[in-house]
Formats: sequence, C-alpha cells, structure tokens
Amino acid sequence: MKVFWILAVLSASSSAMAWQAASPGPMTEHPIPRLVQHDGRYALLVDGAPYLMLGAQSNNSSDWPATLPEVWAAIEYLHANTLETPIYWEQFEPREGQFDYSEVDTVLAQARAHHVHLVLLWFGTWKNGSQHYMPEWMKLDPQRYFHVMNKEGEYVDSPSPFATASLEADKRAFTAFMQHLKEADQERTVLMVQVENETGTWGTVRDYSAEANKLFEGPVPAEVMKAMGKTPSAPDPSWEQAFGPEAEIYLHAWAVSRYVEQVAAAGKAAYPLPLDCNAALRDPLKPETPVTYESGGPTDNVIPIWKAEAPAIDILAPDIYLQGTAQYLKVLELYHRPDNAILVPETSGSARSARFFFSALGLQAIGYSPFGLDYTRAPTVLPGETDTSKNAFLDPTVQNYELIGPMMRDVARLNYEGKLQATSEVEGEPVQTLHFGDWDAVVSYGVGRRGPAKGNPEPMGRALVAELGENRFLVTGFYCHVDFRPAGTAQQRKSGQIVVGMGQTPSAEIDGKWVHRQFLRVEAGEYEDGAFKFLRILNGDQTDYGLPLGSQPEVLRVSVATY
Ligand code: DGJ
Repeated sequence: MKVFWILAVLSASSSAMAWQAASPGPMTEHPIPRLVQHDGRYALLVDGAPYLMLGAQSNNSSDWPATLPEVWAAIEYLHANTLETPIYWEQFEPREGQFDYSEVDTVLAQARAHHVHLVLLWFGTWKNGSQHYMPEWMKLDPQRYFHVMNKEGEYVDSPSPFATASLEADKRAFTAFMQHLKEADQERTVLMVQVENETGTWGTVRDYSAEANKLFEGPVPAEVMKAMGKTPSAPDPSWEQAFGPEAEIYLHAWAVSRYVEQVAAAGKAAYPLPLDCNAALRDPLKPETPVTYESGGPTDNVIPIWKAEAPAIDILAPDIYLQGTAQYLKVLELYHRPDNAILVPETSGSARSARFFFSALGLQAIGYSPFGLDYTRAPTVLPGETDTSKNAFLDPTVQNYELIGPMMRDVARLNYEGKLQATSEVEGEPVQTLHFGDWDAVVSYGVGRRGPAKGNPEPMGRALVAELGENRFLVTGFYCHVDFRPAGTAQQRKSGQIVVGMGQTPSAEIDGKWVHRQFLRVEAGEYEDGAFKFLRILNGDQTDYGLPLGSQPEVLRVSVATY
C-alpha cells in the first residue's frame, strides 16, 4: 500500500506538514485544526488526521443556558459529532468595548462534557442579510452604524458594507472572541468558525448611497477584472462598462466581501482557525434577477470575487434548502472547486434530502450539517412531513450518522486519498456507475429478482464505495444494490447496464474476450470505534443478485476476482 503524503497545505502557515495515514505519531498537545489540500481534494485535519464533521445546526435562539439541554439531547440522539451553534454579538458585547465571554465558555464546557466538537457561527454585522444581532448600542445609533440605502433613498433592513464604524466595531469584537477562543480552547473543541451569517442584502441589489454611487461610476479594481476573467476593452472601465447587467451585483459582492475579509483577517491573526462564510443561494438552474435572491453574499455567480477579495475565508459554503435533485447536485458541483472545499453548513434534514449527504461525500465534503435539529423547534408539521412523532425530523439524519459516525475517520482518510466515491439516487436514473481502475462499481436502485432496476418509489438510495486494496472494496449505503463489473470498453461503461441473476454475473468485453466477476468473499459487519468488526460472510441469496443494502446500517468488505 502506498504511503500517502500531504503535499499542499492551504492554511496561514506556508510550511508543508507531512501526514502519514497509518501513523499520526505521538501527540502531546492538540494541534490547531486546519484545512489541507492535495490534488484538488480537501481534508480537515483534527488531531493530525482527516476528520468528517457529522454536524447539526441548532435553531437560531438555542444557544442559551435555558435551551442548551434541548440541543444536547438532540445531538446525542442524532449521533452527530459536531454542533454548529451561534455566538450572538448582542450578547457578546452588551456595552461598547465590554465583552461577555460567558456564553462562549458555557457552550465550550458543555460540548466537552458531551464529547462533541463545535463550529461557532459569528452572528455579527450580518444575519440573513440584516443587522439584527448588532448590540443595542449600535441599533440605537443608525447614523453611525448605517444601513444600505435603496434606489428610492430609503434605508433598508440590511447593514451597509460602507459603514466604517460598524466594520471597526465588528473587527474589534470578532478579534476579542477569537483571542478568547485561543486561550480557552487548548483542547480544540472548536473546529471552525463561520464569519457572519448569510451576508448580503435582500430587496435591493446594492447600496445606492452617494459613496456607493461614486464607486459604481469609478473604475473596477484590477483584481475584480482578473477574478472575473475580463480584459478591459478601454482603460479603467467602470462597473457598468465592464459587466453590463451584472455590474450592480458584482459591486455589492465586492463591497461585502471586502468588509468580511477585514473582520475575518483580524480574527484569524488572533487565532488561525479555519474560517467559512455561508451563502443564501440563488437557483443555480434558472437565471434570477438579484432582487429575488440575497445580493452581495457568496452566491455561485460571484465566487471568484469573494475568493479574490476574502482570502482569509477558507471555505465558501452553500446553505442548501433547494429540494430539486438537479438543483441540489448543481449547487454541490458549483461550490466544489480546486480553490473551495465542500462544506454544507445548513440543509434540510428531510427524508427526501438525506441521500444528498452521500452526494456531498462523493465530492470529498469535510462536513455536513442539517439545520434546526434541536428539540426547541415548534411542533409544527412542515410540508412533506407525514410522521409527526417527536423524532421524525431527526430520524433521516440519524440513519446517515449512525452508519458513518463510527467509520468517519476512515471515510475522511479514504476520501482525501482519492479512493472513495459516493453517490445518491436521481429520479429516472436507476443505475449509476462508479469507476475504480480495473473495476466498475455499479449501483442499482429499485432492484427486483427479475428485470432491470426501476428506481425506488421515492429517490432515497445512496451508496459509498472505497477501494481498500487490489480487488478489495468497502461498500455501504441504503436502499440500493451494489455490484462490481470488470471495467470494459468505453461503450460498455457508458451503457451502465448490469446483468444479474442465476447463471449470469456482471461481465465486460476486454480485448475481445468476455471477462466475468466473481465474489471471493463478502464480509458483512459494522464499525465500532473506528474499526471494522466482522459479523458474517454473505453468500447465496445475499450476493447472487448483487449486494443489497436496505434501511439498516451495514458495512461490507468485498473481494472480487474474474473468471
Ligand atoms: C438560513 C439561516 O442562515 C439560518 O440562520 C436560518 O435563519 C435558516 N435560514 C432558516 O430557518
């Protein structure tokens, strides 16, 4: 087995750290978590090895001593290893310059007692495009801490990215918070900090204050031209000359990302934790005008501007509430870039969406976190929910985390090494093929004993396959069958068909000869504390029609050969 070295390290530090999969070595203290990259694949290193955040985000007003018990109870039920929870600026700095660390300390202590990591969300200048978490002393001084002005000259419910006093106040508060974390968290309970929450502005594309208008008339900064791949046709083009109908949204994204960068960089200088910024999305498949989505935040169309202007932010992370399969997968594709790791900091925890966790894993996600998973939630029935029992809204996530939790270190490592692929069911696509060198792993949904796969009645299937060694694979998932076929001609690869049933095994024509798959050994088991525990050998009906994965967590270790 090849020894795998990290060659590229994407962090504040420029020194390359070598990490060997088999032996992280003795650890005297907990290193600061950091994001690393190799060949376009990312990992979050926690205690020196790749870690997968199986997260849950609490409701907005849950991070209080009175409500935290209802958060921990849900986290425990979920088998989550990471809680994403807010830090409220209004609580943190109740009077200008006086910082109250009590809530940070409470959540740190309680997370440790529950053996759970944290991602802390800095609800600072922006929360869902508004300034609602600014402390009272700021809200009472709107002249100094001013809002965005719309085209009609009215102030709207969104902080202006040109308000220097707000920026300076946020920088000071965020730095104090990060400095405190550095001192209070030698155990590295906190893995990452989200800077602001869903930055940008609803209802107006940009700020129309005199200052913003002047900037709009002025020249586009060179780094924005470069980031957007534009060569000026005239010297020093204005925003409109350079970008036409996109000019206003680009200007706002430039202004917001520059503001966020200054807050993030100040905090990172105090304590260099990985930082992310979450995005309220636009529909990736349907061109929308900016007033119908949140303008200025890191939406897919302005990722290059954010990357150029906010280098202290390690990850731009999509909050995916879109329910359509094509939209969901498109968002993952758009944020999975050589310069951006996949982190889903908010998403729906519904039964229909649970499979997308596997799609994210297939793009080497470093973390995934459905939103609102605590028991403070009002007992309402959401659209599409039929089961109203106490834990119905948690159960789809439990299914994923119960399976992946005990094996998350292996999943994160295999993913970082480029040996893992994962996928989820797409309507009208009952067969999917994952390519592994000499073998194709064929995933079929809605398989009966006879006839081709039809797809599940609801698209709930998901599969994960990883190469453990030559002709050896790890297989898991839900509501699907997985089989292996010798990798054949390009034409056969495309067809994705698989022949299963008595007397036939998946086959491919290679160099003019038919080559067939046979199972040497299929072990079924489960992971316990990071190690595979053998339970039984599967054969006969359990392997003759492919390897079935149902609703219960099951992990298979498979050896294949040809005849
Ligand atoms: C996205 C925001 O980021 C969350 O804080 C929350 O408000 C959800 N939307 C909606 O509940």
